[in-house]
Formats: sequence, structure tokens, C-alpha cells
Amino acid sequence: MSFSTHCIQCDEYFESRLPMDASIPLMKIKDPDRIQAILHSTRAVRPQLMSKIAGESMVWIDGPDWLVRRRIAQGSFQPRNEPFHVEIVDQVVSGLLERLETAAEEGEVIGLTEEFLRMTTRFLYRFAFDIDLPADHDKAPIVSAYFDAVSQLGFSILDVEKPLDLSVHQLVRTSLKAMDREIDLIMDSDPDPGSLLGRMIEACDAGELTDRQVKDEVRGLFIAGTETTSLTLAWFIILLDENRSWRDRIEAELAVSREVTPLLDAGLHETMRLFPAVPFMTRIVEGVADLGFGPLEENTEFMISVYHTHRNPEHWDDPHAFDPGRFLGEPDRHRYAWMPFGGGRHTCIGNRVARMEARDTLRAIMGRYRFHRVEDTTVGARLGITLKPTIPINVTVERIQPA
Ligand code: HEM
Repeated sequence: MSFSTHCIQCDEYFESRLPMDASIPLMKIKDPDRIQAILHSTRAVRPQLMSKIAGESMVWIDGPDWLVRRRIAQGSFQPRNEPFHVEIVDQVVSGLLERLETAAEEGEVIGLTEEFLRMTTRFLYRFAFDIDLPADHDKAPIVSAYFDAVSQLGFSILDVEKPLDLSVHQLVRTSLKAMDREIDLIMDSDPDPGSLLGRMIEACDAGELTDRQVKDEVRGLFIAGTETTSLTLAWFIILLDENRSWRDRIEAELAVSREVTPLLDAGLHETMRLFPAVPFMTRIVEGVADLGFGPLEENTEFMISVYHTHRNPEHWDDPHAFDPGRFLGEPDRHRYAWMPFGGGRHTCIGNRVARMEARDTLRAIMGRYRFHRVEDTTVGARLGITLKPTIPINVTVERIQPA
């Protein structure tokens, strides 16, 4: 497979991005010390742009409203709920294995990113909405199109040079409407009061949230909790296909144990370093503030590049190379040199479940199946609100061990 380890669009975007409006100074950041100061400051908050496009969910907002949502949601992510999380991961991974088995038997071509998205969407429905989807459900295209629509809208507003093409306007509208319909269906279901949606509906009944805010939270969960994990899985497979000696080592590790997998875990960390699912985060300073790294102009906006920080040569040797060995042993690096799940008060609330889902999926499929790309075209990374492969990754599935 030909493969570009560099996200050219990320470089271009980082270099060329303009402030949201000319009166707002913009600082582009890839230095862990500064990132730590920004993410831990109560004066640096999320800008409002994305909540205007994609709804006022906990993923996009800040301040007291954000805190209410985070407190309501927190209970569903607690480590004490781990047995429930494990049960759902087992369920969705078994579904994926069945689908891979069928594809292997029938020589079927499958879309790798689509297949992983189908699985993570199924996980989200069961985990957050208490809805059991079948393993072959067809919701993934709705989620994927919604992601693309939100990305296109966000970037068209930021990139004044390239405003949204009118021809894609209709597609964006259709995708947003399809997601609205899906959210209505979810809201009409009757979730367990202990589920994430159940907690929100209870908060709504208690007057803490409005009906619209609950819908926005559902919308936000689609953004936060589906493609992030599925793309991480896809990048892992792509990177190992490019780095076969690491693939062989990880497969050998799994032949010994599928429970203790330091090499596979290190490979996952390295995948999230090179292709962080959330490549950029933004914050804006309210008024005049000193965050400890020199005077700032009023209302400065920060564009924090997770992608460039993860490849900052001051913190990583040979930063563009895939080398899971960096993550073996005790970490000897700045806390914010590697931060795929962000940090500070907005640290990914799904961090623990996402890692479990990704790790357990890979433990189940690696060493049992191999994926062979159908087309021999160069794969690169395409920038949106997540980092996606530039082209569809169509693969055949080879079973390398008895099922
Ligand atoms: C590999 C998978 C994932 C990655 C890389 C990831 C990454 C991130 C990052 C970087 C942030 C911080 C954004 C910021 O500071 O502005 C975040 C926030 C968030 N994530 Fe994740 N995420 C993943 C999976 C998940 C999952 C599975 C869920 C839910 C089921 C989830 C729910 C959230 C929520 C609700 C927030 C907002 C938290 C807040 O602002 O308080 N994420 N995620």
C-alpha cells in the first residue's frame, strides 16, 4: 500500500488558518507547556462557533451549562460501571467478528472505516441510548454523513478563502435532517433511567435540562463517541499494514495471550500519536488574561494542534516514524506531549470506555484476520473535525487462524 504518514492538510491548515474575525488575535500552539496552561485555565474557554453549528452539547460548550451536563453524564462513565461496559464491548466485538468471518468466507470486499464505524455506532446506541442495534445495522452512513456535514460547515466558516461550495450545501442540509430524524427516533425510545440518555431525560423532567438540550447532547455524543474510536481502529490497521515487522510482533504476542498485550497497547498509543482522532482543539481567552506565558491580547483565540504537538521534534525523536517502542516502559515525556484525549476539565469523558473498546477490538481481530486493500492508491489523512483516510479503505478479509 502506498501511504503518506504526513497529514498535508493539517500542515496547510495550521499554517494558513485565520482568526474567526479580524479583530480576534489567533495563537497557534504545539508546545506542551502552553497547552497545559491553556487547558487548565478557567479563563480559556471553548469558542461558540461549533455549538452554533452542531448544537449546544457538552462537547462544544463551556461554563456553568457545560458543568451541569458533565455532572449528569459522569455517572455513566464511572469505573464502577465497568462490567456493563465490558458486556457491551464483548457484544459489539462478537458482532464484528461474525461479519469479518462471513466476509472472509465469501471473499466479500468491505469498507474498513465503515465496518468499524458500524461497530462503534452500535456500541454508542447500547451504551448511551439503551438501544440494541443488530450487528448489520445501517446507521453508520447517517453518522458519517453528519460528521462530514458538521466538518464542512465548521471549516467553511473558518476558511474564508474557501467558503462552502453551494453544490455541497444541499448534501449538508440532507445529512443534518437525517440526523434530526434519527435523534427523534432515539428520543421516542424508552431508555432505562440508569442509561446516559435516561439520566438526561430525568434531568429534563427535573427542570435541569430542556428537551432541546437533551437532543443536543445526543447529537454531541454522535460526534464525540463514534468516529473517534472507529478511525483510531482503522489507522491502527493501516499503520500495521505499512509496518509489517510490528504487525508480526503483535500477532506473535497475541498467540501467547489475548489479555496481556503490551505491544498491541503500545501500537495503539503510537497510532493515536500519529493520527489523533481529534487533531485540533480551540479555546478563547475571556477578556485580558495572563496564562503564564507572556502577555496576551484581549480575547486571544488558541488553536491547539494535537497533531503537531504529537510530532513536535523537541519532544519526539524521528517524529513521523511509526515506532510503538516509544510507549513501552515508563513514560518519560511531558504530560501534554501526548494528549489524544485532551486534558484539564474537558478531558474526554469517554476516554476509558474508548480505550477499552479499541483495545479489546484489536485483541479480538489481530492475529485472527488480516486485511488486504483492494485498490493500490496512496492513502493519506484528510482533515475534518476528525482525521480520516483520504480514500475509502476497501479490503478483503483473510482468516489466518481457525475462528
Ligand atoms: C479514540 C476515541 C476518542 C478520542 C481520541 C477522543 C478525544 C477527545 C478529546 C480530545 C476531547 C476534548 C475536546 C476539547 O478539549 O475540546 C474529547 C471530549 C469528549 N469526548 Fe472524547 N474521544 C474519544 C472517544 C469518546 C467516546 C467513546 C465518548 C462517549 C461515548 C466520548 C465523549 C466525549 C465527550 C462527551 C467530550 C466532551 C467532554 C467535556 O467537554 O467535558 N469520547 N474527546
